[in-house]
Amino acid sequence: MPHPPIQAKLITNRSNISYLSGFTGSAGFMLLTKNKDYLFTDSRYIERAKNTIKKGIEIIDVTRVWRNPEELKKSWQKILKKHRVKVLGVEEDDLTVAKFKKFKKISKSKNGKIKFTDISGEIETKRETKTEKEIQLIKRSQRINEKVFVEIKKIVQVLRGRSSTISEMDLAWKIKELAHKYGADDIAFDPIVAFGKNSAIPHHQPGKTRLKKQDVTLIDIGVKYKGYCSDMTRTILPRKPSPQQKEIYNIVLTAQKEAIKKIRAGITGKKADSYSRSIIEKAGYGDYYEHAGGHGIGIDIHESPSLSENYTKKLKKNSVITIEPGIYIPGKFGVRIEDMVIVTEKGTTNLTKTSK
Ligand code: GLY
Ligand code: MN
Repeated sequence: MPHPPIQAKLITNRSNISYLSGFTGSAGFMLLTKNKDYLFTDSRYIERAKNTIKKGIEIIDVTRVWRNPEELKKSWQKILKKHRVKVLGVEEDDLTVAKFKKFKKISKSKNGKIKFTDISGEIETKRETKTEKEIQLIKRSQRINEKVFVEIKKIVQVLRGRSSTISEMDLAWKIKELAHKYGADDIAFDPIVAFGKNSAIPHHQPGKTRLKKQDVTLIDIGVKYKGYCSDMTRTILPRKPSPQQKEIYNIVLTAQKEAIKKIRAGITGKKADSYSRSIIEKAGYGDYYEHAGGHGIGIDIHESPSLSENYTKKLKKNSVITIEPGIYIPGKFGVRIEDMVIVTEKGTTNLTKTSK
């Protein structure tokens, strides 16, 4: 039997709501119908919604939007009826079971029962292809990120080995302060700052470890600018690196550059991941590189596509991705180098200007 057509879509994922409407509040959802889109939110966010959302979207004011299904019921049913909704798409990978139950309950109207169907990933797929405006915002976000990094690198170079040295946590807080100073709205994720053997933990949580003269320093930072993320990792070697530190740094750098050169629109995420991974494997360090080779970035720090073994969908023109191979030698040190690039038909355009 053919699948009945979806007449409306319920959007609950916050990043998707922000993408579709510009709304940044934390309580609310959207209903997309053929002729009209609606944003349901409550009094805490009505003013913000009025001032920020795209024209043409109707705001429905519902008191305490998630808590009060009885109040929601009236306006919800009126709109469903108006648009003759019989099949409603929901984001199963976002909607909690509790909220789904509420919707199910209030969606039983005189029109008869509503059928629900999964539309997970639909908006995320649209978000992969960035508009020129989105690319400009990601670039601005990255420029701020780079200004932060330049200062952080100086601090590392000046203070390492001094008695007045600094801890990972001190540096992580400094990153947040500088991000604010240079105009970020927020940080994109908690900064990763790892000294010495901690750099062998890919997502080390900054702690009280203090910077020593011969430490490898791994810094992975990102900020948000007008809702768009940036992401960059740099590994700072000591002034006089050991032969092994130099060797591993160069393997990762060669692998990363090769991926930047070869990735283009139309290849799968799996293929994109393989360019840097095969170099690291050939050098004998395949077992020391266990994470994905990169990810899409935009409103979320991690979004579609993914550069990984089981991602067999193709990369799209004008998507923005990170390329971030690494090698981590447990108990010793780790190296990761990460840039953000735009995927084009011919290759990539690097959005990261910081030297490697
Ligand atoms: N830079 C953090 C991450 O990609 O997970
Ligand atoms: Mn990343």
